[in-house]
Amino acid sequence: MQFQGLVVGVLKEIMPGERRVAAIPETVKKMVAAGAKVLVEKGAGIGSYFPDSEYSNAGAVIVDDVEELFAQADIILKVKEPLFNSGKNKHEVDFMREGQVLITFLHPAAPANHEMIKNLSAKGVIALTLDGIPRISRAQAMDALTSMSTVAGYKAVLMAANRLPKFMPMIGSAVGMIPPATVTVLGTGVAGLQAVATAKRLGAVVHAVDIRPDAAEHAKSLGARPVETGIPAEVAIGKGGYAKALPEEWLIKEREAIKDTIIKSDIVVATALVPGRLAPVLITEEMVKAMKPGSAIVDVAIDQGGNCELTVGGEVIEKYGVSIDGTKNIPGMVPESSTTMFARNVLNYVSNIVKDGKIVIDLEDEITASSLVCKDGELVHAGAREAMGLN
Ligand code: NAI
Repeated sequence: MQFQGLVVGVLKEIMPGERRVAAIPETVKKMVAAGAKVLVEKGAGIGSYFPDSEYSNAGAVIVDDVEELFAQADIILKVKEPLFNSGKNKHEVDFMREGQVLITFLHPAAPANHEMIKNLSAKGVIALTLDGIPRISRAQAMDALTSMSTVAGYKAVLMAANRLPKFMPMIGSAVGMIPPATVTVLGTGVAGLQAVATAKRLGAVVHAVDIRPDAAEHAKSLGARPVETGIPAEVAIGKGGYAKALPEEWLIKEREAIKDTIIKSDIVVATALVPGRLAPVLITEEMVKAMKPGSAIVDVAIDQGGNCELTVGGEVIEKYGVSIDGTKNIPGMVPESSTTMFARNVLNYVSNIVKDGKIVIDLEDEITASSLVCKDGELVHAGAREAMGLN
């Protein structure tokens, strides 16, 4: 059996407000059926409405003391990077040991995580980061970032719709016709396409902006009206078909091209991003000033600095009568669905590195190679090394 003899530990997240968990009863059942012993920390699924009893029924052992869980597990499954556990007065990294496997979102290049990553590496932990999974077809079922962007794109529209002082759909009534709201989505990759689909389902008129013609085409097929950005394909598209970070002179042209559409929008959902770069500023203060009071912006790209120059990370502010939402953990606001998707991604990922009851770190496998952060005391993640100035 694939997981024979392996002990898998599922932690309760300790980041304040984090409601997701890395395994659900369905995925526990599959690991147990494949021979694993699965330990779930008491109350791990409470925030996403998966009670301990369901994990037990799926074959998990519920463990009250997290220290015991760390001590027994060969593989630790988590959602967020290791943090200081104030209840135990100990950092989660200090519970870990050499050769133990950690699978979670580590964001190893982010400066705030450098010390923790160095400590993980020094301990000899085998750390694998889910944000390193490449966007290739074989990895689709493991791609937790894509799943979380799907959730974020959906929820961002609902958050904006909730603040809007008007209807989203056209409403025919005895007192006349009320026109639909206008929604503009910036960047129609994963999060943006889901935002387009959600806004269409709610009956809004939807405009879509993307510098990749393919992405604009996808948005059109979902019923959005593409906005011409004036950026030639050779300027917009780089290696592997990804968008390129635009030089400032082209960004100025793009802002000019989309300005009128943004100003006339009731809602702008901003998701434009080039992986590994700061998000392009597409919404200026001048545009916000010209928008109708009561309009709503949700800046989904806030983790990379945001698409609107006024957004404040982690806050909802109001400027010139326009609400600007910089909420950071949007998937955490839809904990049951995001946990279900995340847990399935994690099961598929872990299944890819477990063979005949053994953990196999095969660097010939593109998925493992690009998600491996450290092993045998060596920090191998290219982005983290570069960010730490180690190359
Ligand atoms: P993606 O790479 O699939 O999509 C980004 C899109 O932006 C691409 O289609 C790209 O062509 C487009 N783009 C790049 N530069 C542009 C420009 N100058 N003008 C117009 N379009 C441009 O990325 P994904 O997965 O959809 O993520 C989007 C953003 O959402 C990221 O910043 C990600 O971190 C964020 N996100 C935020 C969450 C939150 O809780 N706040 C949760 C999940 C994702």
